[in-house]
Parts: sequence; C-alpha cells; structure tokens
Amino acid sequence: MSFAQVHRENYRRQAKSYGIDAEFVSQMVDGFYTKVRNDEELGPIFDAVIQDQWEPHLVKMKQFWRAIALKTGEYEGRPMPAHLKLKNVTKTHFARWLQLFDENLDEVAPTPEAKAFFQDRARNIARSLMMGMFYDPNEELGISS
Ligand code: HEM
Repeated sequence: MSFAQVHRENYRRQAKSYGIDAEFVSQMVDGFYTKVRNDEELGPIFDAVIQDQWEPHLVKMKQFWRAIALKTGEYEGRPMPAHLKLKNVTKTHFARWLQLFDENLDEVAPTPEAKAFFQDRARNIARSLMMGMFYDPNEELGISS
C-alpha cells in the first residue's frame, strides 16, 4: 500500500471515530442549508443564484464535504471562482455563514470532535475565500489591477 493510501485510511478511521460518516454529512448539509435559506440576509443571496436548483446544489455540497471529511475524491470543483462572481457578498455575510454553520453543528454533530473538525475546515475555507474576494494586494502596492 502506498503512503497516500495509508494516510487516507488513517484519516477516514479518525473521522469515523469522531462519528463522521456519509449519513452525518448529509444531515449536516441539509440542516445548514435549511438555516441559510431561512436567513434574512443569506437566503436571498443564495436563492438569486441557485433559484430552483437547490437539489443539485445540495448533492454537490454533500460531495464536497464527503471529499473533505472522508477523502472520497468526489469533488473536483473550484470554490473560488464560484464565489468571486458573487459581487454583493460582504465580510458580514461570511460571519453570518459561519455562525449558522456552528449553530447547525451544535444541533446535529454526533461528538464535540466532529463539530471541531467541520468548524475548523469551514473557517479555513472561509478565510481563504475572503482573501480572494476582499483582499487586493495591488491596492497596497499601488499597482493598478
Ligand atoms: C457568505 C458566505 C457564502 C456565500 C454567500 C456563498 C454562496 C454560494 C453560492 C451562491 C454558491 C453557488 C454558486 C453557483 O452555483 O454558481 C456557492 C457555491 C459553493 N460554496 Fe459557497 N458561499 C459562502 C461561503 C462558503 C464557504 C465558507 C464554503 C466552504 C466552507 C463554501 C463552499 C461552496 C462550494 C464548495 C460551492 C460549490 C462551488 C462549485 O460550483 O463547485 N461557500 N456558494
């Protein structure tokens, strides 16, 4: 077995020991986007883009989180361009997104470790999306972009 395979197996075993499996990921994604859709600030932003395509969006987001938590290799998309085009999204929206994400984990996470695992991943990705969306190094450098 290659090093990568051993790593993947250990990673999955650890996730499993936290109570993370495909069933939980599905529940987490459904619960989170129910909150998002009902949210006064975030709901309209998502609805404007996703419109009547919520089912495929949820399928994709379950693949995304399974790929992260269970290393299934199911998601090969690129989140950055999908968010760069959302011109009306602000930093406050990200804070709200993470707040709802945590609230949902409080309700559905099987263990504190499972909550910490997803909270950590979500925060890292949120930070990286925010860098791409809100930070322009050229501005600091006085270079026109
Ligand atoms: C205020 C914060 C956010 C807003 C308003 C937002 C909104 C959206 C919207 C509208 C889409 C659909 C784009 C499309 O189909 O064209 C999308 C896709 C997606 N979002 Fe977010 N998002 C936010 C934060 C995040 C965070 C923090 C993550 C990850 C932890 C994330 C992960 C994704 C992924 C993986 C997709 C699918 C991209 C693809 O098409 O492959 N989003 N988001």
